[in-house]
Amino acid sequence: MAPPPLLQFLLLLLLCCDLQLCAAANVSYDHRALVVDGSRRVLISGSIHYPRSTPEMWPDLIDKSKDGGLDVIETYVFWNLHEPVQGQYDFEGRKDLVRFVKTVASAGLYVHLRIGPYVCAEWNYGGFPVWLHFIPGIKFRTDNEPFKREMQRFTAKIVDMMKQEKLYASQGGPIILSQIENEYGNVDEHYGPAAKTYINWSASMATSLDTGVPWVMCQQSDAPDPIINTCNGFYCDQFTPNSNQKPKIWTENWSGWFLDFGGRVPYRPVEDLAFSVARFFQRGGTFQNYYMYHGGTNFGRSSGGPFISTSYDYDAPIDEYGIVRQPKWGHLRDLHKAIKLCEKALIATDPTYTSLGPNLEAHVYKTSSGTCAAFLANVNSNSDATVTFYGKTYHLAAWSVSVLPDCENVVFNTAQIISQATLSETKYVKTYSQESDQPIFTSEITESGWKYVQEPVGISKTSAFKREGLLEQINTTGDVSDYLWYSISVNITGNEPFLFNETQSILHVESLGHVLHAFVNGQSTGSGIGNSDNVNVLLETTVSLVPGKNIIDLLSVTVGLQNYGPFFDLSGAGVTGPVLLKGQSGRIDLSSNLWTYQIGLRGEDLGLSDSSIWISQDVLPKNSPLIWYMTDFDAPAGNDPVAIEFTGMRKGMAWVNGESIGRYWPAYLAPQTGCSLCNYRGAYSSDKCLKNCGKPSQTLYHVPRSFIQPGKNKLILFEEMGGDPTKISFTTRQTTSLCGYISESHPAPVDAWNTAKNQVPVLHLECPYSRQVISSVKFASFGTPSGTCGRYEHGKCRGSSALAIVQEACVGAKSCDVEVSTKLFGDPCANVSKSLAVEAACS
Ligand code: GAL
Repeated sequence: MAPPPLLQFLLLLLLCCDLQLCAAANVSYDHRALVVDGSRRVLISGSIHYPRSTPEMWPDLIDKSKDGGLDVIETYVFWNLHEPVQGQYDFEGRKDLVRFVKTVASAGLYVHLRIGPYVCAEWNYGGFPVWLHFIPGIKFRTDNEPFKREMQRFTAKIVDMMKQEKLYASQGGPIILSQIENEYGNVDEHYGPAAKTYINWSASMATSLDTGVPWVMCQQSDAPDPIINTCNGFYCDQFTPNSNQKPKIWTENWSGWFLDFGGRVPYRPVEDLAFSVARFFQRGGTFQNYYMYHGGTNFGRSSGGPFISTSYDYDAPIDEYGIVRQPKWGHLRDLHKAIKLCEKALIATDPTYTSLGPNLEAHVYKTSSGTCAAFLANVNSNSDATVTFYGKTYHLAAWSVSVLPDCENVVFNTAQIISQATLSETKYVKTYSQESDQPIFTSEITESGWKYVQEPVGISKTSAFKREGLLEQINTTGDVSDYLWYSISVNITGNEPFLFNETQSILHVESLGHVLHAFVNGQSTGSGIGNSDNVNVLLETTVSLVPGKNIIDLLSVTVGLQNYGPFFDLSGAGVTGPVLLKGQSGRIDLSSNLWTYQIGLRGEDLGLSDSSIWISQDVLPKNSPLIWYMTDFDAPAGNDPVAIEFTGMRKGMAWVNGESIGRYWPAYLAPQTGCSLCNYRGAYSSDKCLKNCGKPSQTLYHVPRSFIQPGKNKLILFEEMGGDPTKISFTTRQTTSLCGYISESHPAPVDAWNTAKNQVPVLHLECPYSRQVISSVKFASFGTPSGTCGRYEHGKCRGSSALAIVQEACVGAKSCDVEVSTKLFGDPCANVSKSLAVEAACS
């Protein structure tokens, strides 16, 4: 029996409220802030791009964002994902934008929807569908009718979808802000006077869609009213919007940086990230977004570039696998709490600036009723300072900001990390081989566990076609595949001037990129590989020809289409020539001859789901190019995130149960040099802090749990250059240690503010999973310990009871708090500043 109508109504209301889809909110803005239902708000935001994780991961990522102190989740909308073929839309699975927005709403957070539809984002072709390029007369991102028509159609489509689901705040939904275009101001000078017309058109087109919430443009100093121009960068404290009626908004604070195949792994120290955030709020900002808060994974062929890696971890506060990165996440959470303690004062007025000395700045926010908050900064990157502020003295470490929610007491300093650090470990997991039901290491999967199919060298598909001359790749393939074969037949009589002796010659190939493999008469003769700085390829290799007919096959491979820069859409790829055969006394230019073309691989067409095509034999072919491999595996036990380590393989693509986990390329090593220890003090840039020199840019590749099913699973690989699949292994990621290092001069925990608790520094440890407790204390020292998590050492000054005290407080508990004071530990060395260092394990 259905419940009575009144109860039905109440139930519905409850459900709506739960999704925060209750009362409509009025969102506007003024000089100080975004104004939600009449109140100015200080808002902390973080980017999570929905297709870079899975719907199964979203709730947890969003909960962790909320726990980290975020109010808003920012995402782009990825046009080429939603409209792969003109007029055919796809909003399923990872592409389910509505579900993502509702998931954010149900956690009680707001959404900033950056529709673009140009997004950059290290995403293939900057988010544009490649079919757009083929519309007659089209010119991207300028005052061009065909482009504007398509841009408006897609933008309106997304806005309509959101409206239908009542997702705008004006309708009771979570979306409080939207973005049109993206960083056009960085490139607009290249588009001449039409740029201005285009930006004005974009603004009025967006406004006409009537979302009921404000629009922003980032890096667009001439954004016309009512669009708010916002800032992107590593620091935005110096930014001011183009009108006194607009708030200071930071749409992208880069929490790290993206990784390229062939590049070193960038990271951004949290002391500097926190410094940049605190400086922004110190100097009048009220909305700040981390780009990225969770970076995630470029599944399939979604990564841009060229050469953007499959991992889009970004050194973000939540790592690629969805695990909080500590102490980054925790230190920022503390910062957010500190800033929120200042909210009342922050939204009330502009700050008053006072110099406290060279590079020493105080900004004070004071309301008429006397509420006061202050930020004290030392922007000198070398020396600490002691300053006097309102009659009290404060120590300010170099390149740090202290937050004083009452203009008197420091609740937080950006350079003093209170949050615990964690160490995690990659564990190799046992899976089951196909033939046996005995657990074994995947890395020991017997050869019989693998089957294979050889991808033919050269032309093998009936769809191949002939053309005179060399074709640009993207125009030819429309990007339906990374691969394009260029094939030509050369007749040798023995007297050719392009031969050294009877059969030797040099093959010279020039390509716009990104990777090229050359074959002569079916044999591999060399590869050329571009890099993110120079994507072009020049291949010169000696080739052996045979009398009579010789086939030269060139496999040109793209690694993500350009996503940034003026006219990025026209960069092109592939073998545009010249292609020469060079010898002792001459050369021939094959560039304008008749070439045969094949778009994509045969295996891509076959789909490879038909088990009858796979070959199993005693000896598995290895280390030879162009082979498809297949094996079955059992789901790794437990719930920890899973990755495949591609040791032994060189370059290709991988699928788990038909889901592409992206391009793999462990053979592309980062340069040997450039990874010296980085100091967080001083201005950060994307190449300041790098690690992984001389190692593969990416060895681990995320396999989301939802791609794996209980029981048998299928792994398919396409290896382009030659590898050994029996060497790969499955791994899980587990947190192995918790660490803390707190000195007597650290502030007390932010949570102790406004409470009767003792205002002393506290070392707090907490196991990551609710089912865990602290099982042991591996190290504890009170005095002058040194080192970092996993490598702490006792100092000269060392109390004898630290280990026992910490064990007593922590072992067996899910979390513990230990006061850092001589009251608790005794004083092993008077007149010396002491610290407590602890490393513990959970199980
Ligand atoms: C910005 C752009 C983002 C992203 C970022 C670098 O310029 O707006 O989409 O590409 O750079 O990660």
